[in-house]
Amino acid sequence: MANDPDPRGRLIGALDQVAANPEIQRVREVAFAALHLEPGQRILDAGAGTGEVARLLATRLCGSGAIVALDASAAAIAAAVARDEGTSVRYTQGDVTALDFPDRWFDAVRCERVLQHLAEPDVAVAELARVTRAGGRVCLVDTDWESVAVDGLPRPLVARVREHLLATVVGQHLDMGRTLRRRLLGAGLREVSAVPVALYFPDPLAAAAVLPMVNPMVPADTGLIPDDLREDWFGALGEAGERGDFLATLTMWVATATV
Ligand SMILES: C[S@@+](CC[C@H](N)C(=O)[O-])C[C@H]1O[C@@H](n2cnc3c(N)ncnc32)[C@H](O)[C@@H]1O
Repeated sequence: MANDPDPRGRLIGALDQVAANPEIQRVREVAFAALHLEPGQRILDAGAGTGEVARLLATRLCGSGAIVALDASAAAIAAAVARDEGTSVRYTQGDVTALDFPDRWFDAVRCERVLQHLAEPDVAVAELARVTRAGGRVCLVDTDWESVAVDGLPRPLVARVREHLLATVVGQHLDMGRTLRRRLLGAGLREVSAVPVALYFPDPLAAAAVLPMVNPMVPADTGLIPDDLREDWFGALGEAGERGDFLATLTMWVATATV
């Protein structure tokens, strides 16, 4: 089993905020379309968090087929089970780098915003391919954190915060989104496609759910913003929000392939 991916217990609230964001929902629609889902299929959502997408799939497939939501976090799986109101989704704790399923078990697998956190993402991609049947689809969704761009804030301040973020965020692949296509190709899959989706946030509030660095509720001990810049940074964000000229973009990637 992977180490607890959420030692500080902050995962579930953050996932709820992200899931409610219309731009994230837009990315998910691109991913659904890429999977070519059909009623009756066996589908895996690996690193499913609280199972929101798995339940949505169950609804869309009208309860047919078999959907498995897997996550390494016991707390996420417990929350997912508690939220389920009678769907056919099966929830299980597990590690995407060592899946406890037979070869070729699923018709389609998806994995959203998980690989960026893993020490060995290619092991996970190989596992996702292993458990997918020949002709089945693998869909990876991930963020390109290095693509974040903002406007409406003083450029020197943005540059310092950006430099700090890129230097201090560890244990994360900040470029994961743009690498997904290469990883699918490396795993020997075919019909590989990669779609960049530029998320657009016209005010700091809209951005806060997805971009932790603009969210004043994210605790200072995360170290995302240097202590000596916090006041200036969040002050400038507030002013830009009031003026109405804040803008942020972030590119996420949806990469899909056939096994
Ligand atoms: C950013 S969340 C994304 C959750 C969900 N896919 C979504 O888009 O809302 C990352 C998830 O990956 C899970 N995770 C991290 N490492 C994992 C592993 N080795 N195996 C399975 N899940 C893992 C975490 O517990 C967390 O729920």
